[in-house]
Amino acid sequence: MNTSDVEIRPTRLSDLPSLVVDCLNPVFLERKFLAIVEAIPVGEAMGYHAAKIVDGHPHFVAVVGDRVVGLCDVAPNAARIAAQQHCVTLGMLLSPEYRGRGLGERLLQATLEACRGKWERVELSAYSHNERAYKLYLRCGFKEEGRRIGAWKLDGVTSDIIEMAITL
Ligand SMILES: CC(C)(COP(=O)(O)OP(=O)(O)OC[C@H]1O[C@@H](n2cnc3c(N)ncnc32)[C@H](O)[C@@H]1OP(=O)(O)O)[C@@H](O)C(=O)NCCC(=O)NCCS
Repeated sequence: MNTSDVEIRPTRLSDLPSLVVDCLNPVFLERKFLAIVEAIPVGEAMGYHAAKIVDGHPHFVAVVGDRVVGLCDVAPNAARIAAQQHCVTLGMLLSPEYRGRGLGERLLQATLEACRGKWERVELSAYSHNERAYKLYLRCGFKEEGRRIGAWKLDGVTSDIIEMAITL
Protein backbone atom coordinates (compact mmCIF):
# COMPACT_ATOMS: atom_id res chain seq x y z
CA MET A 1 0.00 0.00 0.00
CA ASN A 2 1.24 3.53 -0.74
CA THR A 3 2.64 5.31 2.33
CA SER A 4 4.33 8.19 0.54
CA ASP A 5 1.85 10.62 2.13
CA VAL A 6 3.09 9.72 5.64
CA GLU A 7 6.17 11.18 7.33
CA ILE A 8 7.75 9.63 10.43
CA ARG A 9 9.62 12.22 12.49
CA PRO A 10 10.31 13.46 16.04
CA THR A 11 7.25 15.08 17.61
CA ARG A 12 7.06 18.88 17.73
CA LEU A 13 5.14 20.79 20.38
CA SER A 14 2.94 22.12 17.56
CA ASP A 15 1.85 18.51 16.81
CA LEU A 16 0.26 18.05 20.23
CA PRO A 17 -3.30 19.29 19.58
CA SER A 18 -3.68 16.95 16.60
CA LEU A 19 -1.89 14.14 18.42
CA VAL A 20 -4.45 14.22 21.22
CA VAL A 21 -7.63 15.07 19.29
CA ASP A 22 -7.10 13.18 16.02
CA CYS A 23 -5.02 10.24 17.16
CA LEU A 24 -4.77 9.42 20.89
CA ASN A 25 -8.31 9.97 22.13
CA PRO A 26 -10.02 8.15 19.22
CA VAL A 27 -7.79 5.08 19.79
CA PHE A 28 -8.47 5.17 23.55
CA LEU A 29 -12.19 5.16 22.71
CA GLU A 30 -11.79 1.98 20.62
CA ARG A 31 -11.38 0.27 24.04
CA LYS A 32 -9.41 -2.64 22.57
CA PHE A 33 -5.69 -2.03 22.50
CA LEU A 34 -4.55 0.29 25.29
CA ALA A 35 -4.87 0.44 29.07
CA ILE A 36 -6.73 3.76 28.83
CA VAL A 37 -10.24 3.30 27.42
CA GLU A 38 -11.70 6.80 27.70
CA ALA A 39 -10.77 10.19 26.26
CA ILE A 40 -8.29 12.24 28.30
CA PRO A 41 -8.89 16.01 28.63
CA VAL A 42 -6.94 17.65 25.80
CA GLY A 43 -4.94 20.02 28.03
CA GLU A 44 -3.94 17.22 30.39
CA ALA A 45 -2.77 14.93 27.58
CA MET A 46 -0.92 17.76 25.82
CA GLY A 47 0.88 18.65 29.08
CA TYR A 48 1.94 15.03 29.61
CA HIS A 49 3.42 14.72 26.13
CA ALA A 50 4.93 18.23 26.13
CA ALA A 51 6.90 17.33 29.26
CA LYS A 52 8.33 14.24 27.56
CA ILE A 53 9.36 16.23 24.48
CA VAL A 54 10.93 19.01 26.56
CA ASP A 55 12.84 16.34 28.55
CA GLY A 56 14.26 15.04 25.24
CA HIS A 57 12.82 11.54 25.49
CA PRO A 58 12.35 9.61 22.21
CA HIS A 59 8.93 10.62 20.89
CA PHE A 60 7.95 10.03 17.25
CA VAL A 61 4.83 10.73 15.24
CA ALA A 62 3.50 9.65 11.88
CA VAL A 63 2.01 12.69 10.17
CA VAL A 64 0.04 13.37 7.01
CA GLY A 65 0.36 17.10 6.42
CA ASP A 66 -0.69 18.69 9.73
CA ARG A 67 -2.57 15.63 10.95
CA VAL A 68 -0.99 13.19 13.40
CA VAL A 69 -1.91 9.59 12.53
CA GLY A 70 0.49 7.67 14.76
CA LEU A 71 2.66 7.84 17.86
CA CYS A 72 5.50 5.86 19.41
CA ASP A 73 7.07 7.09 22.65
CA VAL A 74 8.69 5.90 25.84
CA ALA A 75 8.14 6.52 29.55
CA PRO A 76 11.22 6.29 31.79
CA ASN A 77 10.85 5.18 35.39
CA ALA A 78 10.69 7.83 38.11
CA ALA A 79 14.14 8.84 39.38
CA ARG A 80 13.36 7.43 42.81
CA ILE A 81 13.10 3.94 41.30
CA ALA A 82 16.88 3.69 41.31
CA ALA A 83 17.18 0.04 40.28
CA GLN A 84 15.16 0.48 37.05
CA GLN A 85 16.81 3.50 35.49
CA HIS A 86 18.16 1.31 32.67
CA CYS A 87 14.60 0.33 31.64
CA VAL A 88 11.97 2.28 29.75
CA THR A 89 8.37 1.46 28.80
CA LEU A 90 7.24 1.86 25.18
CA GLY A 91 3.78 2.73 23.90
CA MET A 92 2.53 3.10 20.32
CA LEU A 93 -0.60 3.47 18.23
CA LEU A 94 -1.85 4.35 14.76
CA SER A 95 -5.17 5.73 13.62
CA PRO A 96 -7.29 2.85 12.25
CA GLU A 97 -7.01 3.76 8.57
CA TYR A 98 -3.20 3.86 8.77
CA ARG A 99 -2.75 0.38 10.23
CA GLY A 100 -1.54 -2.57 8.17
CA ARG A 101 0.78 -0.49 5.96
CA GLY A 102 4.07 -1.15 7.75
CA LEU A 103 4.02 2.24 9.48
CA GLY A 104 4.06 0.69 12.95
CA GLU A 105 7.39 -0.97 12.21
CA ARG A 106 8.87 2.30 10.94
CA LEU A 107 7.70 4.18 14.04
CA LEU A 108 8.98 1.44 16.34
CA GLN A 109 12.41 1.22 14.69
CA ALA A 110 12.87 5.00 14.84
CA THR A 111 12.02 4.99 18.54
CA LEU A 112 14.26 2.02 19.37
CA GLU A 113 17.13 3.66 17.51
CA ALA A 114 16.66 6.82 19.59
CA CYS A 115 16.69 4.72 22.79
CA ARG A 116 20.08 3.15 22.04
CA GLY A 117 22.77 4.52 24.34
CA LYS A 118 20.16 5.91 26.73
CA TRP A 119 18.51 2.75 28.06
CA GLU A 120 19.47 -0.93 28.05
CA ARG A 121 16.02 -2.47 28.09
CA VAL A 122 12.73 -1.46 26.45
CA GLU A 123 9.60 -3.03 27.95
CA LEU A 124 5.96 -3.14 26.87
CA SER A 125 2.68 -4.94 27.47
CA ALA A 126 0.33 -6.21 24.75
CA TYR A 127 -3.04 -7.93 24.96
CA SER A 128 -3.29 -11.43 23.50
CA HIS A 129 -6.20 -10.44 21.23
CA ASN A 130 -3.92 -7.84 19.61
CA GLU A 131 -2.18 -10.20 17.20
CA ARG A 132 -0.92 -7.50 14.86
CA ALA A 133 0.94 -5.73 17.67
CA TYR A 134 2.31 -9.01 19.08
CA LYS A 135 3.64 -10.08 15.66
CA LEU A 136 5.22 -6.66 15.10
CA TYR A 137 7.05 -6.76 18.43
CA LEU A 138 8.38 -10.30 17.84
CA ARG A 139 9.51 -9.32 14.32
CA CYS A 140 11.40 -6.34 15.74
CA GLY A 141 13.26 -8.43 18.33
CA PHE A 142 11.09 -8.24 21.43
CA LYS A 143 10.86 -11.44 23.48
CA GLU A 144 7.83 -12.62 25.37
CA GLU A 145 8.79 -12.79 29.07
CA GLY A 146 5.52 -13.85 30.62
CA ARG A 147 1.76 -13.71 30.56
CA ARG A 148 -0.75 -12.48 33.11
CA ILE A 149 -3.45 -14.99 32.29
CA GLY A 150 -6.91 -13.48 31.84
CA ALA A 151 -5.80 -10.14 33.29
CA TRP A 152 -7.60 -8.15 30.56
CA LYS A 153 -11.40 -8.28 30.76
CA LEU A 154 -13.54 -5.65 29.04
CA ASP A 155 -16.67 -5.50 26.89
CA GLY A 156 -17.06 -9.29 26.95
CA VAL A 157 -13.46 -9.99 25.89
CA THR A 158 -10.99 -11.75 28.18
CA SER A 159 -7.30 -11.82 27.18
CA ASP A 160 -3.86 -12.32 28.61
CA ILE A 161 -1.55 -9.39 29.20
CA ILE A 162 1.74 -10.34 27.51
CA GLU A 163 4.87 -8.81 28.98
CA MET A 164 7.60 -8.27 26.37
CA ALA A 165 11.04 -6.66 26.31
CA ILE A 166 14.06 -6.10 24.08
CA THR A 167 17.65 -5.64 25.21
CA LEU A 168 19.36 -2.91 23.23
C1 LIG B 1 -0.11 -2.29 16.60
C2 LIG B 1 0.16 -1.27 15.50
C3 LIG B 1 0.96 -0.11 16.06
C4 LIG B 1 0.99 -1.98 14.43
O1 LIG B 1 1.24 -1.10 13.37
P1 LIG B 1 0.95 -1.56 11.84
O2 LIG B 1 1.51 -0.54 10.96
O3 LIG B 1 -0.50 -1.86 11.74
O4 LIG B 1 1.74 -2.93 11.73
P2 LIG B 1 3.13 -3.26 11.03
O5 LIG B 1 4.06 -2.12 10.96
O6 LIG B 1 3.59 -4.51 11.68
O7 LIG B 1 2.65 -3.53 9.57
C5 LIG B 1 2.49 -4.84 9.15
C6 LIG B 1 1.24 -4.93 8.35
O8 LIG B 1 1.28 -3.97 7.28
C7 LIG B 1 1.22 -4.64 6.03
N1 LIG B 1 2.02 -3.87 5.09
C8 LIG B 1 1.52 -3.21 4.03
N2 LIG B 1 2.49 -2.57 3.40
C9 LIG B 1 3.64 -2.82 4.08
C10 LIG B 1 4.99 -2.43 3.90
N3 LIG B 1 5.35 -1.64 2.89
N4 LIG B 1 5.92 -2.86 4.78
C11 LIG B 1 5.56 -3.66 5.81
N5 LIG B 1 4.28 -4.07 6.03
C12 LIG B 1 3.34 -3.65 5.15
C13 LIG B 1 1.69 -6.04 6.31
O9 LIG B 1 1.17 -6.94 5.38
C14 LIG B 1 1.09 -6.27 7.70
O10 LIG B 1 -0.29 -6.52 7.59
P3 LIG B 1 -1.02 -7.55 8.61
O11 LIG B 1 -0.73 -7.10 10.00
O12 LIG B 1 -2.46 -7.42 8.21
O13 LIG B 1 -0.39 -8.88 8.29
C15 LIG B 1 -1.16 -0.73 14.87
O14 LIG B 1 -1.84 -1.78 14.22
C16 LIG B 1 -2.07 -0.07 15.89
O15 LIG B 1 -1.94 1.10 16.15
N6 LIG B 1 -3.02 -0.81 16.48
C17 LIG B 1 -3.95 -0.24 17.47
C18 LIG B 1 -3.24 0.30 18.70
C19 LIG B 1 -2.33 -0.73 19.29
O16 LIG B 1 -2.58 -1.91 19.22
N7 LIG B 1 -1.21 -0.27 19.89
C20 LIG B 1 -0.23 -1.17 20.48
C21 LIG B 1 -0.65 -1.60 21.85
S1 LIG B 1 0.45 -2.84 22.52
